[in-house]
Amino acid sequence: MPGLLLGDEAPNFEADTTQGRIRFHDFLGDSWGILFSHPRDFTPVCTTELGRAAKLAPEFSKRNVKMIALSIDSVPDHLAWSKDINAYNGDQPVEKLPFPIIADKDRELAVKLGMLDPDERDKDGMPLTARVVFIFGPDKKLKLSILYPATTGRNFDEILRVVDSLQLTAYKKVATPVDWKCGDSVMVVPTLPDEEAKKLFPKGVFTKDLPSGSSKLLCAFRSSGH
Ligand code: BEZ
Repeated sequence: MPGLLLGDEAPNFEADTTQGRIRFHDFLGDSWGILFSHPRDFTPVCTTELGRAAKLAPEFSKRNVKMIALSIDSVPDHLAWSKDINAYNGDQPVEKLPFPIIADKDRELAVKLGMLDPDERDKDGMPLTARVVFIFGPDKKLKLSILYPATTGRNFDEILRVVDSLQLTAYKKVATPVDWKCGDSVMVVPTLPDEEAKKLFPKGVFTKDLPSGSSKLLCAFRSSGH
């Protein structure tokens, strides 16, 4: 079945992009990576999303996340569209964006990665790509996937927030609660014994007992930032 599940290794595909031909694993190197797909070039919601992604490129770079977009048009179309995206951002209408866009004209990758939206079709009746977000870790395994229909633009602040959570929880024995933002308290993973948690978080661990008695929220203060 096409598509990617959490923990799957990123396929090591070759593709033409606005920054030349790539092999995906070489492109990722030892970094984290975000691959985000778009229904079509020159469509308004996509233009706003890529504009925002371009503005946030320094934030992704600070977090060691390589960005790459995908749309089911050609490299020349992507380059022409990039001018619109830069102009939308109030910048010079040049072809360069801070990340490559994969040309998936024949929808080969979109099919392989389970990115097509059956409800949105082009004038020839062919399905468009949905707005998929795949985040890969340095081990090239899928750490997060979010799937939006073509008609709903993404929130890139939320995507940065989840990157912060993924990176924190990859390296520390913690989980992040609802609406967590970088610098907020985090929760100790339930499998970590209380005594060990206190040792790991000498600055303070607090608990909140709940009526059932069986579930205890163990939280630790952390202050981390980029
Ligand atoms: C857009 O990017 O504006 C768009 C693309 C496909 C369906 C609806 C909106």
